[in-house]
Amino acid sequence: MRILFTGGSGKAGKYAVAHLLAQGHRVLNVDRVPLDLPGVDNRLADITDAGQMFDVMQSYADFDELEPGTGVPNFDAVVHFAAVPRILITSDNECYRVNTIGTYNVIDAALRAGVKKIVFASSETTYGVCFADGERKPDYLPLDEEHPVVPEDSYAMSKVVNEVTARSFQQRSGADIYGLRINNVIEPHEYKENFPAYIKDPASRRRNFFAYIDARDLGHMVERCLLTDGLGFEVFNVANEDHSVGERTPDLIDRFYQGVPCAKMGEYESFFSIAKAKKMLGFAPKHSWRNELGEPV
Ligand SMILES: NC(=O)c1ccc[n+]([C@@H]2O[C@H](COP(=O)([O-])OP(=O)(O)OC[C@H]3O[C@@H](n4cnc5c(N)ncnc54)[C@H](O)[C@@H]3O)[C@@H](O)[C@H]2O)c1
Repeated sequence: MRILFTGGSGKAGKYAVAHLLAQGHRVLNVDRVPLDLPGVDNRLADITDAGQMFDVMQSYADFDELEPGTGVPNFDAVVHFAAVPRILITSDNECYRVNTIGTYNVIDAALRAGVKKIVFASSETTYGVCFADGERKPDYLPLDEEHPVVPEDSYAMSKVVNEVTARSFQQRSGADIYGLRINNVIEPHEYKENFPAYIKDPASRRRNFFAYIDARDLGHMVERCLLTDGLGFEVFNVANEDHSVGERTPDLIDRFYQGVPCAKMGEYESFFSIAKAKKMLGFAPKHSWRNELGEPV
């Protein structure tokens, strides 16, 4: 596929881009900074500028595409990751502005260019727990995509708005637009750097529902979305199968989720349910911190 990827130079995007290149896809990364990775094409552009998004959606990926003399090829899919990726980086209103206007521009430009598949990064924060003022518990566990999304912070608000924007664009266009409620992204080097502290202090992972997503498995999830057609608008939780801490699920419930209605769960099963992505997309994450650290369960 010929894919336009926004935000491919960032923490999560660079692994997804690498995964897509390894599967033989062509990728044009659209970001404010280039990604230094063999095989990827780069274009510097700002997602908050509609004109720039309209331009890149109907653009050559690189000079070689001038050769056939048949004009600008179409993109088969757009993956949209560019964003201010949390609160407390910019002002709250700037985070909201960049994320909402940027997403509107990317989806609008993609659809008008005839793109039929769009995958965009939403967030676990939509469920309201991550950036709540004080402790907020989920309504029930495991946490699936039916759980209410009423967050308190500007970043998560922007992601909820983006899901509504995407659903509305899907309604008119009939294209496939899938949103990924991504949990905390972990790069391979972060297992050794961060997980010993997570294991020592499980409470530090409460705001992420104790979950995580390996950056390489997120790349696999993006590809499953690109290869699965005909779903219309959908949102999917994205996480690994297990918790990011060493404790068993029943022990975590006793310690952190007293009073929260909870279905029967596996001994180490993540609270951040990926059942929908497994069923509808064939998502099959294969990494676990236990293997990365060489730790027996
Ligand atoms: N990292 C996580 O744990 C996590 C969790 C849930 C969701 N997400 C979402 O996944 C996506 C990627 O997150 P990340 O951690 O890789 O963030 P990141 O900040 O590392 O990468 C974001 C990229 O977007 C680019 N960007 C920002 N504003 C831009 C603009 N106006 N125009 C063009 N490019 C712009 C940045 O240059 C950067 O390369 C984001 O949408 C984020 O909200 C991330």
